Amino acid sequence: MKIACIGAGYVGGPTMAMVALKCPEIEVVVVDINEERIKAWNSDKLPIYEPGLLEVVQEARGRNLFFSTDTKKHVGEADIIFVSVNTPTKTHGIGAGKAADLTYWEGAARLIASVATSSKIVVEKSTVPVKTAEAIGKVLRRNCQDPNVNFEILSNPEFLAEGTAIEDLQHPDRVLIGGADTPSGQKAIQTLAEVYAHWIPRERILTANLWSAELAKLTANAFLAQRISSINAISALCEATGADVSQVAHAIGTDSRIGGKFLNASVGFGGSCFQKDILNLCYVCETVGLKEVADYWYQVVSMNDYQKQRFVERVIGAMFNTVSQKKIAIYGFAFKKDTGDTRETPAIDVCKGLIRDGAKCCIYDPEVTPEQIFRDLSAPKFEWDRPNYSRSQSHMLENVQVQSDPAAAADGAHAICVLTEWDEFKKYDFAALYEKMVKPAFIFDGRNILDHAKLRDIGFIVYALGKPLDQFLQKNYS
Ligand code: NAD
Ligand code: UDX
Repeated sequence: MKIACIGAGYVGGPTMAMVALKCPEIEVVVVDINEERIKAWNSDKLPIYEPGLLEVVQEARGRNLFFSTDTKKHVGEADIIFVSVNTPTKTHGIGAGKAADLTYWEGAARLIASVATSSKIVVEKSTVPVKTAEAIGKVLRRNCQDPNVNFEILSNPEFLAEGTAIEDLQHPDRVLIGGADTPSGQKAIQTLAEVYAHWIPRERILTANLWSAELAKLTANAFLAQRISSINAISALCEATGADVSQVAHAIGTDSRIGGKFLNASVGFGGSCFQKDILNLCYVCETVGLKEVADYWYQVVSMNDYQKQRFVERVIGAMFNTVSQKKIAIYGFAFKKDTGDTRETPAIDVCKGLIRDGAKCCIYDPEVTPEQIFRDLSAPKFEWDRPNYSRSQSHMLENVQVQSDPAAAADGAHAICVLTEWDEFKKYDFAALYEKMVKPAFIFDGRNILDHAKLRDIGFIVYALGKPLDQFLQKNYS
């Protein structure tokens, strides 16, 4: 059996590396139009940072795992084709700012149709709107010249989270495969299930109809993001009342009906999926006339925007209503720890908000390159997910500096903002950092990872999300 995967990104690369690792008898080729990316996948400096990924790639690469730009050849030869291309939010035209842009998906489908000389199972790995399989089926069947070629379309959404992708792929809670309710559709489901059964217990391989599988992916992300927006909404109330959001989260999370995961209040959720997929879900609801349902889910995104804005306002308000010309050290730019990914990271909106008020941001992140940070801070909203986007000149960048040394970033700064929960931040010598900062020195902990009592004892004025403000603390730190 031969597998090809179109799209060598955060999903296509790690997912196919795991399939190749676990199924040595299957040839797996990951193809992409981006030559640089493929070159990196063939080197020891992979294009994405993900713990444990290099080891998996090194074991399978050259044996039965290959990365190539020869899309036509490998797609033409494959029995199963995963499509794992990006499905960004549309930036213009009908549905701009919410609908999924399926340009890359349709391009991939047209490519498959043009080279197929044998029947194929085409697997939707990308996250797509409900009913995409129907549209893709039409593109495939009406563009293929060979009448004997049959296409079976499956929906096999990916649930991995970045930073834990290898663990998630190795031990997933479940794998979901949706297919047509026809004998050939069911046969295709079984063929794909056999691949996963190499390492995943059968009871964790769920099957469904196509539309349920497509919708389950959007729903899963909407529910996860909703939990974060819910606890973030409560974090605002905690700050206003003297309650502590960690205590509230713990108290409700021990109720087994609620559960303790995904209740960490934060400066806002980021990542390439949550916002995009909720907007996509809302747009689908609108197109079928369910305005109230769309409005319900929009609120999850609005609350997230509010949380980022609230954080910026808190920083400015605490620093005597002016950050003009003040150096602010930003610790963490990635959207979460253990990844170099910055797509939709809350750090973008926070930095832009502070810079608009005149601040000078000095950014440190252990994994994100300066080039990426400059690109993100100059990119218009939703443009980042386009392969051909190149950095534009932006006045924002005049007030941005990127530092490879966290101590240098804090040197001469008025404040430190923690925007990503990198473990290394917990180990820093904050007493030494305090010495080098302008007084009063502020810390704004947007992830609640630091020891706030200790920081206050050093002399910092501390603001932590959803935690009692200084005026509610018994000890007077003024
Ligand atoms: P990505 O941007 O990292 O990778 C997509 C790749 O597809 C790019 O390298 C691009 O060059 C390539 N591509 C686009 N059109 C192509 C074509 N016609 N031929 C060959 N290559 C082409 O995106 P990603 O993060 O891997 O996400 C892919 C899909 O998976 C999206 O729909 C996303 O919503 C979904 N998803 C992502 C995650 C995640 O954690 N990133 C998790 C689950 C699902
Ligand atoms: C998410 C889904 O978890 C995954 O199943 C899907 O396949 C892709 O989208 P990802 O975006 O990689 O994964 O990371 P995730 O761990 O879900 O975190 C998303 C954002 O929410 C991050 O910015 C994270 O910091 C934030 N978050 C997460 C919180 O603010 N609080 C939490 O309790 C959990």
